[in-house]
Amino acid sequence: MTAFSADLLRWYDAHKRDLPWRGPRVSAYHTWLSEIMLQQTRVDTVIPYFHRFIERFPRVDDLAAAPLDAVLSMWSGLGYYSRARNLHRAAQLVVERGGFPQDLVGLKSLPGVGDYVSAAVGSIAFGVVEPAIDGNLERVLARCAAHSGGRKAVLALGRDRIDPDRPGDFNQAMMDLGSQICTPRAPGCGACPVAAHCAGWALGRPTDFPSPKARRVVPERKGVAAALWRDGRLLLARRPAEGLFGGLYELPGALLEAGQIAENELAGLISDKLGLRVDSSRRLGAVRHTLTHMRLEVEVIAITSSGSPDLRHYTALVWADPGKPEELDALGLSTLARKALSVATTPQVSIF
Ligand code: ADE
Repeated sequence: MTAFSADLLRWYDAHKRDLPWRGPRVSAYHTWLSEIMLQQTRVDTVIPYFHRFIERFPRVDDLAAAPLDAVLSMWSGLGYYSRARNLHRAAQLVVERGGFPQDLVGLKSLPGVGDYVSAAVGSIAFGVVEPAIDGNLERVLARCAAHSGGRKAVLALGRDRIDPDRPGDFNQAMMDLGSQICTPRAPGCGACPVAAHCAGWALGRPTDFPSPKARRVVPERKGVAAALWRDGRLLLARRPAEGLFGGLYELPGALLEAGQIAENELAGLISDKLGLRVDSSRRLGAVRHTLTHMRLEVEVIAITSSGSPDLRHYTALVWADPGKPEELDALGLSTLARKALSVATTPQVSIF
């Protein structure tokens, strides 16, 4: 063991966060589920979802046997829904194969499992000696070596330091250190258990490492969503399985191309997607929503139509009662769809 990991693990043993996916009674299934949830989402947000998920699907067999809709509805609000679809498919593969693969190559053969998740699950559940390089590990390792960063270099730095006897604890200690002490802007070097091993600290400028990445410009897109009521119920439509928000329910609508205006496109879109003629329309408000790869602004427009919608684009249609939360919860709805729904049910506001 290196002096670095001895100091790190002594600190971890005394200060580790008490999280529901940690401890001796945690199964590989729980570890995998938590790492998939944590990949793009903060710990505080994940905790209640994790508890609900394992209560509903206590074992990987329960998840594999569940309908995809039930999984998506449990995921509702966590975002990045391809994670839920991959999780469901991976659970079925694990059951077919009679258990979780226990090495990196086997783990990576599961949908949704890449370098980070395979190293995290492999090290925590099966003792595989491999650093799980997420943003926290990249920052801590680059600072300790006063290195500009980059995945390959950071992986090598991690491999030099990881404890072969406690690789899972090493990875989780580094995650805790990165999120509690070695934070991006104002690291608490005075409280850091590995400051004595840190070249960035010795130079007096830890925040210069890793070097800042060029900021990505996130494109903005406009969209439109239609609120069609019938007998106190609102039409919700299920998107095709593939692509953005795949398999989730929404107010029917679409993204617009640059220069298109929601009010002008609406009638054509509703005709294409639902086979309906729009008799009248009224703008209710707008919602904004940010994804990693785009910023969306969606106009919500109430429409009337006397026809019956049909399935030509969507994969299911339901008339839902928005006053009954349990009815909405049973459908998978994205956070964007929930925002649009709240405009549809409380007109004349903008929710950002
Ligand atoms: N972030 C990702 N995985 C984590 C874990 N196992 N513990 C704490 N934070 C994490």
